[in-house]
Order: sequence, then C-alpha cells, then structure tokens
Amino acid sequence: MTVGSAPGKAILFGEHAVVYGHPAIAVPLGGVRAMAEIRELAGLPQGHVLLEAPDIGLHSWLHEMDEGHPLAQAIMSGLAALGVENAPALEIQLSSTIPPASGLGSSAAITVATLRALGEHFETPLTLELQSELTYGIEVLYHGTPSGVDNTVVVFEKPVWFRPGDPPVPLVIGEPFTLVVADTGESSDTAEVVRGVRKRRDEDPEQYELLFGDIEAVVVEARRAIELGDNRKLGNLMDRNQILLQRLGVSSASLEQLIDAAREAGAQGAKLSGAGQGGNMIALVSPEATQAVLDALERAGAINAFTALIE
Ligand code: PMV
Repeated sequence: MTVGSAPGKAILFGEHAVVYGHPAIAVPLGGVRAMAEIRELAGLPQGHVLLEAPDIGLHSWLHEMDEGHPLAQAIMSGLAALGVENAPALEIQLSSTIPPASGLGSSAAITVATLRALGEHFETPLTLELQSELTYGIEVLYHGTPSGVDNTVVVFEKPVWFRPGDPPVPLVIGEPFTLVVADTGESSDTAEVVRGVRKRRDEDPEQYELLFGDIEAVVVEARRAIELGDNRKLGNLMDRNQILLQRLGVSSASLEQLIDAAREAGAQGAKLSGAGQGGNMIALVSPEATQAVLDALERAGAINAFTALIE
C-alpha cells in the first residue's frame, strides 16, 4: 500500500482580492489533513481503478464516473503526468479530516494527497511545482476561477506570500503565533461566493478596485508584521481586513457572531478565512487567551474549533 497526504490551509489575508491579481498570505494547517491510500487489486484487468471516498459516499469505478468529475480528473492527470499507461488495477481510498466547503482548502488537499500517493506508488514522486500546477487545473473544475493560492500553500506546506503570476514567496515568521480556527457549520460554496463578488464588481468596478487596493495595503503591512514578529499589529490588520471583506459582501451573520465572540474573549484580531458567507473564521490568540476564546466560540455556536501554531 502507498499513502499520500496534504494539509488544510487558512488564508490569513487577501482572499477575494487575490482573484483579481492582488497578493494574499496563506498558511498550512498541518493538524487537519487529506489522505489517499492506494492498493493493487489482484485478478482485475489493467487500468481498472476503484475509487472509495466514504466521507462523500463515493464508491465507483473510474471508468464509470463522469469524465469531468474532479476526483476522476485528479487521478487521470496524475497517471498522465507520471507517464503510466498500463497501470495494474488499483483501489484508491480517500479520506480527510478537513471539513469540506468551509474555506480550509479541502478540495486542493484531496487532489494533492492523490497525486502524492500515485507518485509514491509508481516510484516517481512528482515535483512540488508539478503537483501545484496539476492541482490548479483540478481547482478550476471545483471553483471556476481559482487564484492559485490554495494549491500553492497546500503543496508547499509553508506560510506563503502569493500573487497570481509571480513565484510564491515563503514567509519568514518573526515570532510564532497561534490561530484559533472555528467553523460556523454553514457550508461555503467558493465558486458561488466568487461569482457574487464578480457580479457586484462588474456593477461597480471603481468601488471594488478601491476595496481591492485597500485589501492589498493591509496584506503588504501584514507581511511586514509577520516578518518582524509584531503579532499585536497582525491582530489589528486582521480586523481591518475583516471590515473590507464585509464591504465586499462576503461575511455572514454566523461569521460575525463568531468573530465578535472571539474578540470579546480576548483575541488580538479575527476575520473570516477563505471564500466566506459561511465556512471558517480565524482568530489570533495569545497563549493566555486561547482557552477563553475556544470556550467563547463554542458558546457562540461554533461546531468545531481548533488551534494551529504558525511557525
Ligand atoms: O474557500 P476557499 O478555501 O476555496 O478559498 C477561496 C479563496 C478565494 O480568494 C475567495 C478564491 C481564490 O481562488 O483565491
């Protein structure tokens, strides 16, 4: 059996603006992961692939799946990149502890885990650059017009400064910091939320360009604060980014409830993370405030909350 895995991710700053060419900062969340396990199936014809993803109720032969299905495409593009033509019959089992459709990069992680397991199985690990490029292609099937930030951070597993079209820059963390990540329990459909922003921007391009410019200014300041280890400043910048995300129309009542609860319990800053209109929020917490913030989030209705050390 061969195994591949990949982490979840959180966007710290710059979601949505990054779709329009502005920079974003994202971090891997190693505590939640997607996994792919591959076994050879004896006595079956070459090329048969049985795909098992019990979390989403999928048990299907690859050749019976819709060709445009992102999981089918992930396997086919991985096999093609590896130059495997006459593969023995395989069973690919997918699982994940990353909540789906919640802004934590579960789709990118499942693709990367699959590519890694295939690379291991055929003893030709794919380079990180190729994993990222192939995953971007699959993200298009999931999300329509992805910026590329998710595939980048999930593949490289490092805090990253990402601007579409430029090589990603790994960030030096001046002073490790702790995030609390909490789920509203409302699913967030990235493609739909991104389409909504595009529609509103097309109706009022000037206003949206101003907002994206303001977000970029926050992201630039945040990079400096991260590199200098100025975590108090970082919290303020998260709050500023959240105000701009509200103006983009991507927050929601449940996100605001969790963000308020985290701040009142002593978080240094808090914002939604990912596409928004549901999904997860993140809060920056000092060691002393961590438990109080976790408790407050639970009381405020979070269905799941965990901490992640960013270093
Ligand atoms: O919801 P997620 O985790 O897929 O994050 C989406 C981030 C956006 O900036 C809204 C879209 C993108 O492609 O960057």
